[in-house]
Amino acid sequence: MKAFIFDLDGVIVDTAKYHFLAWKRIGEKVGFTLTHEQNESLKGVSRVESLDRILNWAKVELSQEEKEQLLHEKNKDYLAQINTMGQDEILPGVLTLLQYAKEKNIPVALGSASKNATTILEKLGITSYFNALVDGNHVTQSKPNPEVFLKGAELLQQDPKNCIVFEDAAAGIQAAKAAQMTPIGMGGAKEVQTADYCFNSMEEITHQFISAL
Ligand code: BG6
Ligand code: MG
Repeated sequence: MKAFIFDLDGVIVDTAKYHFLAWKRIGEKVGFTLTHEQNESLKGVSRVESLDRILNWAKVELSQEEKEQLLHEKNKDYLAQINTMGQDEILPGVLTLLQYAKEKNIPVALGSASKNATTILEKLGITSYFNALVDGNHVTQSKPNPEVFLKGAELLQQDPKNCIVFEDAAAGIQAAKAAQMTPIGMGGAKEVQTADYCFNSMEEITHQFISAL
């Protein structure tokens, strides 16, 4: 039996728009306008690494203390935006797939770069579907490093080769491949076309497709 590892942001819920707004406001503080394209490349990347990339694009150097202040402000802004998030923001097809996994006893882990992952799962009311949770608080390396997915497989007591990873970010697809897992690219962005299989939405994933895997 295969195991499933779900990324969170952009796979279970569309939080990218909230991350984008919060990073855009941080960018403006250092005189930089973040584009949608740049934001796309930040998907799956940790908070610290994202700020470093933005400061690099802005050609701005800050002290550690100043960076920590911006990271704090970014997260405060983000948390305020997601505060009212509820079940209605779960992306189409996600609940059906989670329920299918439960019925078929397919082990399920979360493999997210976010340090807010458990808060978000609670808000969405879907924590109980996961047999293991690995998030930004449990890893030292940001995707495309495979650490987050390998930890998920370990907690599920599964061979990485048996794991199917649902990912919306280029960094996450690379991480899944590096872990020798099977990535499924979600959301249809050109950045995920390197995945073994791609879907615009989880609604398009049939039970036959999963069984065939
Ligand atoms: C990833 C998102 O899932 O988590 C990134 O795709 C985000 O955009 C990263 O920066 C870290 O999230 P957080 O919630 O810890 O700031
Ligand atoms: Mg993602």
